[in-house]
Amino acid sequence: MFPELPTRVQSAFLSGPRTRPPSFRLDLLPGLRPSWAMKFIHLTDSHLVAPPQQLFEMDMAERLRAAVSSISVHHQDAAFCIFTGDVTHWGEATAFIEFRNIMNALPVPWYAIPGNHDLRQAFLDAFPDTPTGHDEFVQYGLDTPVGRFLMLDSLDEGQAGGVFCNQRMDWLQGELDNAGDADVFLFMHHAPMDVGINGVDRIRLSNGEAFGDLISNCPNVRHLFFGHLHRACHGSWRGIPFSTVKATAHQLALTFDPEAPIISSREDPNYAIVCINDDSVIIHDHCYFDEHKAFSYDRGAPEGSEGPPLHQADWD
Ligand SMILES: [Fe+2]
Ligand SMILES: [Fe+2]
Repeated sequence: MFPELPTRVQSAFLSGPRTRPPSFRLDLLPGLRPSWAMKFIHLTDSHLVAPPQQLFEMDMAERLRAAVSSISVHHQDAAFCIFTGDVTHWGEATAFIEFRNIMNALPVPWYAIPGNHDLRQAFLDAFPDTPTGHDEFVQYGLDTPVGRFLMLDSLDEGQAGGVFCNQRMDWLQGELDNAGDADVFLFMHHAPMDVGINGVDRIRLSNGEAFGDLISNCPNVRHLFFGHLHRACHGSWRGIPFSTVKATAHQLALTFDPEAPIISSREDPNYAIVCINDDSVIIHDHCYFDEHKAFSYDRGAPEGSEGPPLHQADWD
C-alpha cells in the first residue's frame, strides 16, 4: 500500500471496513510514543437509542462502537476515558445498558456524567458504580497523577439547557477549597458560555456567569471540558482554557446566523486525546472514521526537474 513506509507503519493504516480498527498499535511502538505525565480520552454525546432503533438514519451504537475499537487499538496507554453526557437520546434504560456494554469493551476504565437527554436515575441504575453519594447529583472527583478531576452535573431534568444550582456550587466550592495546591480539571455537559451558535447558545448553562465567577477565582483550575455542542470548539473563557469535541453521534452544523435554530449535520464523529504535562495540556481531535485515509508524505519534485527546489533540498 505504501511501499516506501516501514511494514510496521503500513499495517497501522490498512484500510478496511470503517468500523474495524487497524491491526497495529502505532503509538505503542517502543521509541515512538511521546512522553506524557498522563493521557486520557474525551468522548461525548453518543445519543444511543433503544436497540434496534436508529436515530436520524444513523446507527449511533455502531458509531460509539467504532470509537471504542479505535481507542482499544491506539490508546491502551490512556489512563481512562471520560464521557461528558448525552449517553442516550430518549433516556431509555435499554439505551443506557447498550452504552455500558459497548464502553465495557474498552481496555481502560471509563467515567461518565449525564447530559440533558439523560435521566439521572436511569443513568445511576445503569452505572451503579458511579462514585457519587453526597446528594442526588451525579458529581464526583477523581484523583489522578496530574491533579484532581471534578465531574460536574449540569442537568436540569426536563430542560434542554443546563443549570448549576447553589447545592452543586457549594459542592464544587468545597472541592476547590480542598484541592489545595493540586491542579484541577473540570468536566460538565453544558457549555457555560456563548460560543456564537444560536441553536446551542440558547441551551447552554443558564447561570454560566455565576459558574464562571466561582471557577475563575480558583487559580488551580487548568482546563474545562464539556460536551453538548456536537462540534469541535476550543478557546479560553474568563482566563480558563476550555474544549469540547465532536459527538460520536450526529454533529451540529456551523452557522453564525443569530436566529438559526439547531441544525444538525452528518459530519463524521471524533474523540479527543488529551495529553497532560506540568506545563502543557495538548488536545488532539481525532476523526476515527478517517484512519484509512493516511498516506505517505512523498513530495516528489516539480515536473521536469531532477529534485526538489533548492530551498527545499534538505527537507526530509
Ligand atoms: Fe448531545
Ligand atoms: Fe446535550
